[in-house]
Amino acid sequence: MKAIIPAAGLGTRFLPVTRVVPKEMLPIGAKPALELIVDEAESAGADEITIVISHGKELIREYFKGKPSIRFAYQLEQKGLGDAVLAGWENNGEHTNENVLILLGDALVAGCNASREMVELSKANGGCGVIGCERVPREKLSRYGILKLDGGRIADLVEKPSPEEAPSDIAVAGRYLLPAAVFDILRTQAPGKGGEIQLTDAIRRLVRNTPEEPASPFKILPYPYPGKRQDIGNPKGYFEALKAMGANV
Ligand code: UTP
Repeated sequence: MKAIIPAAGLGTRFLPVTRVVPKEMLPIGAKPALELIVDEAESAGADEITIVISHGKELIREYFKGKPSIRFAYQLEQKGLGDAVLAGWENNGEHTNENVLILLGDALVAGCNASREMVELSKANGGCGVIGCERVPREKLSRYGILKLDGGRIADLVEKPSPEEAPSDIAVAGRYLLPAAVFDILRTQAPGKGGEIQLTDAIRRLVRNTPEEPASPFKILPYPYPGKRQDIGNPKGYFEALKAMGANV
């Protein structure tokens, strides 16, 4: 299985340290956070992991140099998460029809191996897609992609909605197991919220059944993993992650 870890973002919420240290390389004990994410992907069955980096983030390449399961892709401009994962896909060798695991480079999961459990759920359901998710309080809905569920599957997603627009309180939580078809969709994805090419917008085109999109939408299941997402993209979240990931130190 292929995995993509986007780690090319600017890290503006964690300035000034991110001027020289990518947030994904902040230590959790003796390992950089990104290595814990690589470990998670490998133990979920990923044998080819593409880390997407960008200008100023060469430290990542340096650190993982020589690890045969890891390759690198370069995102030239920070045009959004959708653009970053597409850059990862275009640079990760021979394409197959297998699902692809996507792990956000600044999101750790404490308490379980979310990716491995998602792969198991997919296998038990005919190889469908799976998105890791968690419930979030109303005041935080506008920070995340929010799911609309129908009959247990994902029927739609809305990126960073206001509490009034949000179709539920269930948020996408840093881990995706997606059919390779999402990359074809990303090639034509227009910028969305914040002027960024949003992965969420491409996924909604996969799952919705509208006249403009394929008549048989992809089955993607939500997986509320039992662990807790730790967002290390800001100092407070990083501090929480250090406490939660203490067992790894
Ligand atoms: P974030 O939106 O949290 O990261 O993206 P950011 O853009 O680095 O953060 P701020 O807002 O400037 O503080 C989640 C993940 O997607 C990657 C980031 O590196 C992070 O791991 N990402 C985001 C990219 O690789 N490219 C992008 O264009 C945007």
